[in-house]
Amino acid sequence: MWKPPERIKYQTTVARWPTEEEAVGSRLYSPLSSPNLSLEQRTWVPAMVPWRASEEGDVTQDVIDWYARFAEGMPGAIVVEATGIRDIPSGPLLRISDERYVAGLRRLTDAVREASGGRTRLLIQLIDFLTIRRRPQPEAFFNRFLDVTATHRQRLGMKQQDEQAVRQRLLSLSDSELEDVLSPRELESLRQGYRERVTDTHLPTVSTLPTTLPVLFAQAARRAQAAGFDGVELHYAHAYTMASFLSATNTRSDGYGGSREHRVRLPLEVYEAVRAEVGEDYAVGCRFLSDEIIATGSDVDDACFFAKEFALAGMDFLSLSRGGKFDDAKQPKVGWAAYPYTGQSGYECMPAYLSDERGPWGRNSEPVSQIRAAVHSAGMSTPIISTGGIHSFDQAEALLAEGKADVVGFARQALADPDWFQKVRLGRGNEVLLCRYSNYCEGLDQKHKQVTCELWDRAALDSPDAILATDGKRRLTAPRWSP
Ligand SMILES: Cc1cc2nc3c(=O)[nH]c(=O)nc-3n(C[C@H](O)[C@H](O)[C@H](O)COP(=O)(O)O)c2cc1C
Ligand code: SF4
Repeated sequence: MWKPPERIKYQTTVARWPTEEEAVGSRLYSPLSSPNLSLEQRTWVPAMVPWRASEEGDVTQDVIDWYARFAEGMPGAIVVEATGIRDIPSGPLLRISDERYVAGLRRLTDAVREASGGRTRLLIQLIDFLTIRRRPQPEAFFNRFLDVTATHRQRLGMKQQDEQAVRQRLLSLSDSELEDVLSPRELESLRQGYRERVTDTHLPTVSTLPTTLPVLFAQAARRAQAAGFDGVELHYAHAYTMASFLSATNTRSDGYGGSREHRVRLPLEVYEAVRAEVGEDYAVGCRFLSDEIIATGSDVDDACFFAKEFALAGMDFLSLSRGGKFDDAKQPKVGWAAYPYTGQSGYECMPAYLSDERGPWGRNSEPVSQIRAAVHSAGMSTPIISTGGIHSFDQAEALLAEGKADVVGFARQALADPDWFQKVRLGRGNEVLLCRYSNYCEGLDQKHKQVTCELWDRAALDSPDAILATDGKRRLTAPRWSP
């Protein structure tokens, strides 16, 4: 992953934890009563893909164990990982793309309800993504994938030669010579792997997204409701289709790109379709970016505009992330796909302990505060969830006290210690396992390996409660803690 050039090393420490009395009386542990979203406390575990589903995208026992373990900590809400809405092979990505997934998802909602004693609300994140391919071997790219065009022939001075000769010639060229022959998109496909964009409207599947996506999201939301989830989170963040519609890089000319009003159109139409399907009294919100952190991307002003539109449309919550784009992703190794958390935008999404003078904590807090203020200035009070480097009670409480957020998201800190919420509420914060912001977990995510936390393996691996990963060296869930 990209690291800030300053490379200042930070260590997570917490100066003080609240007593039980202080915690119980705090804003963080006060309920949120919003029409479709009532939380017992204002804590939230945002979506995190753990790579536990089957190859067909089914809920497995490992998926159930993963979420039940989070539920034992009894946060206000847990959002189940990005879950695919298209019925296409997607590897071990959890799916909700057909009725056949509902029974497994029902087992998951039952398990979470039981593990939290019904105190934690459970939502599911719905995702759509476009085609992305692995970085090819140059031989495969030039011999099979590349369409040889008149432009190539002209640039090579090979108008008459047969196609195979053109391909051989291309294969023999150096990197810099190729820059004079291939188009920027062809070069990208060679160097990073082919990646579809929402602006590829010459492809029928892409030009028709405004018709296909509302239906796919709505059907998935109906299944989530049938499976017993308390709500759905529409994934409008990071590197995926809906975020690409919101992006300032979206130049579609069919009324769904260009101006902010046009870029937000499909995300609003998807929301309307979902709402029509699940009814007025079901929690529907979205996750989107406070800033894309890429050159020519959307910034916090755009995010304020989108937030007001989503709030006015009737969304029940807005959860803000940051960065995580393909646009600045590092070049993958041959045979690997680009990963959107390897560039600077990826760093801003999941900042790590080697950082700049601002450090890895709370980098999203100020932009989110501005977005919340914009929503309030439009006369709305839609709950805003702020996430990013939050690990201490004081940090979280200050966000609420200063009106910078309504609910506080803990992603990696909840992964490191799912009992954070219980320990702090009981005045036992000094027993919290603090996240180091090492991004060991994120490295596993990148390789689509079972995600675990490096801290868990400090407890004995042979204890009776330890379920081990397929490599036999890591715990699959956090060690048990009882109050
Ligand atoms: C292993 C891992 C998987 C993640 N998967 C998702 C995901 O499926 N959807 C999503 O919106 N964010 C995902 N994220 C981002 C987190 O939800 C969160 O925004 C990010 O980690 C920053 O918050 P933190 O500093 O509290 O960890 C993931 C993060 C990690 C570490
Ligand atoms: S591996 Fe554990 S300590 Fe490291 S960033 Fe992930 S959750 Fe935090």
